[in-house]
Amino acid sequence: MPDTAVHVGSGKVRELFTLDDDRLLLVASDRISTFDVVLPTEIPDKGRVLTGLSAFWFARTEEIVPNHLLALRSDGRSTECRRLEMLPIECVVRGYLSGSGWKDYRATGAVCGHPLPDGLTESAELPTPIFTPSTKATTGHDQNIDRDQALELVDGELYDAAERASIALYRFAAAAARERGIIIADTKFEFGTDDQGTLVLADEALTPDSSRFWPADEYAPGGPQASFDKQFARDYCESIGWDKTYPGPELPDDVVAGTRARYVEAFERLTGIEFDAYCAEPDVVLR
Ligand SMILES: Nc1ncnc2c1ncn2[C@@H]1O[C@H](COP(=O)(O)OP(=O)(O)OP(=O)(O)O)[C@@H](O)[C@H]1O
Ligand SMILES: [Mg+2]
Repeated sequence: MPDTAVHVGSGKVRELFTLDDDRLLLVASDRISTFDVVLPTEIPDKGRVLTGLSAFWFARTEEIVPNHLLALRSDGRSTECRRLEMLPIECVVRGYLSGSGWKDYRATGAVCGHPLPDGLTESAELPTPIFTPSTKATTGHDQNIDRDQALELVDGELYDAAERASIALYRFAAAAARERGIIIADTKFEFGTDDQGTLVLADEALTPDSSRFWPADEYAPGGPQASFDKQFARDYCESIGWDKTYPGPELPDDVVAGTRARYVEAFERLTGIEFDAYCAEPDVVLR
């Protein structure tokens, strides 16, 4: 990292540096959070999986919407990107009914103002993917909002462009993933604008941390689905009776190894690229 990089923030997973006025460096750590608490144990290579998968999708979706990626660094976990003005909403797309979408549907029959057919079960596929934005909570959990609430935070034209881009990105990635045996139940995008005011896809995209990935061969609507990647760690945390508040438990070696294997498997299934080949030369995901 050049000496000019200035550390400007830490998220649950990523460290943020500024390189100059126009560029940021996002470095994905190996930290893992379950139930929104960062655990004391890291999952080796998890940050590389997230970085490589995001770059893989950025390279394949440029025609749908421009993105912030400028370069991948040789460590496989650092992304040089365009520094943007971020929209203050999270752009969630749901193709299946799960998580807070399922909760809202059960309570109201709708999700973020989208009325849905009666009688849908948990994890059911929706008739069409829906855009269900949420606030970007600085503390606590994000809150689902409808179009009118979002328009108090974001300009209408930008909102509509973000909705169109989000749905198109989801459709593209969900179809590609389905061919590789993975259901993308839902996913979250973050957009910003450049100095021309153009909408640009930012942050991470279509990773296990920003999406619900389900193994297609085990899909059984009517209840919750096992997630592809974090389930191992989550199951362990629940099995020891942890109360899901800070601090989280240390993970034993076999849970670390099992979780790492699932992240790597998600990477290899989705990209069709060997993870070792990515580590040797990260740019393989851009071709
Ligand atoms: N191109 C960009 N320009 C400016 N900010 C960006 C860009 N891409 C991503 N960001 C911001 O960088 C941060 C990424 O860090 P990270 O994902 O670890 O933190 P977080 O999303 O705030 O919190 P967490 O993911 O832990 O809930 C986010 O705040 C994201 O909005
Ligand atoms: Mg984030």
